[in-house]
Amino acid sequence: MSEAPGASNVRHQQVHESRHPLVRHKLSFLRRSDTGARRFQELVWELTTLLAYEALADLVVTQTSVTTPLAKTDGYVLAERVALVPILRAGLGMVDSIWNLIPDAQVGHIGLYRDEATLRPVEYYSKLPPASQMDVCLLLDPMLATGGSTTAACNILKRHGIFRIKYLGLIAAPEGIAQLQGAHPDVEIYVAAVDCCLNDQGYIVPGLGDAGDRLFGTKVDEAARIPNSPQTEEP
Ligand code: PRP
Ligand code: URA
Repeated sequence: MSEAPGASNVRHQQVHESRHPLVRHKLSFLRRSDTGARRFQELVWELTTLLAYEALADLVVTQTSVTTPLAKTDGYVLAERVALVPILRAGLGMVDSIWNLIPDAQVGHIGLYRDEATLRPVEYYSKLPPASQMDVCLLLDPMLATGGSTTAACNILKRHGIFRIKYLGLIAAPEGIAQLQGAHPDVEIYVAAVDCCLNDQGYIVPGLGDAGDRLFGTKVDEAARIPNSPQTEEP
């Protein structure tokens, strides 16, 4: 396991909860019930960039030679191929920020939704790059609630021959972490925050509500709505 230089992360075995001040700042605005879809998308982008920086700190590089206008010097190129796999829908909001950093990354997709009654994941789509064409797979989904969706996604990836998996999310519940670690103890977990618990509807508390709905401006789920209270403006 590795940590980004200067960032003091909280470590519980394979769980990295960022303590970076910018992550904590931006996450607070992401959580706010009055943050609209456009700003929500931007904050997801920004948070994903910061978390990816931490999660990818152990990528292997190869030494190379670089000629600057003044001299020859040592340079480095990534020696490992990264694949990005968002869980639809909300994971889509995390793709572009990392793709921007690693334009060579291949992108696969896993379509899962939670059955509202059972909270069990239902698989409806899967399209993945060949396992032979990637070294590290970043599984992207902002929310680790019961852990059912992420566990199912790891099952799908491993059936496809993909074993080096890092899960990157924004908010996790302890229940989801326990579920994912129980099923896939080899998968490292990188999140901006570990919250308190789940409510009766399986929403993370305090959380941020329904990530997919907030990203794409679709229905407001009453179970996830919290009363508005006066809040300071974002600087
Ligand atoms: C949300 C979220 C995760 C899942 C987390 O997706 O984006 O995929 O719930 O919950 P879990 O840990 O209990 O499985 P949702 O099922 O709402 O699907 P959507 O993104 O298509 O709306
Ligand atoms: N899915 C979400 O989008 N939010 C939660 O709090 C739980 C599951």
